[in-house]
Amino acid sequence: MSDLFRYFENNPGRLIHKWLHYFGIYERHFSALRGRPIQLLEYGVFNGGSLQMWKHYFGPQARIIGVDIDPRCAQLAEPGIEIVIGDQEDRATHMRLKEKYGEFDIVIDDGGHRMRQQLVTFQEMYPAVRTGGVYLAEDLHTSYFPEWDGGMRRPGTFIEYAKSLIDQMHAWHSRTADHKPDLVTSTAYGLHFYDSVLVIEKNAVSPPSQAATGIPVFEVGALEYFLLAMSAQHKGQIDTAINYCRRALAIEPAASDALSLLAKLEAAQATKAG
Ligand SMILES: C[S@@+](CC[C@H](N)C(=O)[O-])C[C@H]1O[C@@H](n2cnc3c(N)ncnc32)[C@H](O)[C@@H]1O
Repeated sequence: MSDLFRYFENNPGRLIHKWLHYFGIYERHFSALRGRPIQLLEYGVFNGGSLQMWKHYFGPQARIIGVDIDPRCAQLAEPGIEIVIGDQEDRATHMRLKEKYGEFDIVIDDGGHRMRQQLVTFQEMYPAVRTGGVYLAEDLHTSYFPEWDGGMRRPGTFIEYAKSLIDQMHAWHSRTADHKPDLVTSTAYGLHFYDSVLVIEKNAVSPPSQAATGIPVFEVGALEYFLLAMSAQHKGQIDTAINYCRRALAIEPAASDALSLLAKLEAAQATKAG
């Protein structure tokens, strides 16, 4: 049984309301940040119990901040737990949070779960998640409930928006003019979809690059020979790299990458010989 679930089952503090399968997801994505001086922001305070659970789980160095529209929640502040009263649908609430706290290691959206609330919160707060941090949105099943502005494949729901993040993650490979890399492309290291939960692991993502190593067994294409040439060049094996480049060009004589690499390699070989 995970530490978080054990805490929940024996909850010594205020009321917590969570779906049971979320506990495994929390452990999987939050455990690396335990015991560290993190800032955790949770939208949706309710009775304050989940904030106490985070305080217990992450330890005394963590700063836990809860946001709720209900002014009664202000009284739930305690050492290590701060409360901000505000509407998550109002961009000014998020601006205030960013001005006061800067960046966050973990942002959890367990607020009102209406489409606009989830969208505005993601748009404003994903950029405020620190590199190495986590954005976690809960209760995405409301995207399927008409009474929550949802509906199956209905444009404008958070789940439809979340699907578009998959496209953005792959924008490096786009062949479409209006599909360009953006903040999500260069920082969403992992998009994890679970029932009703989306977790985004934020980290620096470089444009993807490929390589080939080893000895071809069958005749392969110009791309593989070019990649083998790149790997050989990387290891300082100029003659081998030239050989692979020539094999690539024998298959595709106009391959510009291979032509320019060959020119570079031949120049390096001449310098070495001279
Ligand atoms: C599901 S409860 C939060 C549960 C809590 N995190 C827990 O685990 O026990 C949802 C909370 O979101 C708050 N809420 C609803 N609409 C909101 C909004 N527009 N902005 C901020 N909080 C909102 C409600 O007042 C309520 O306390």
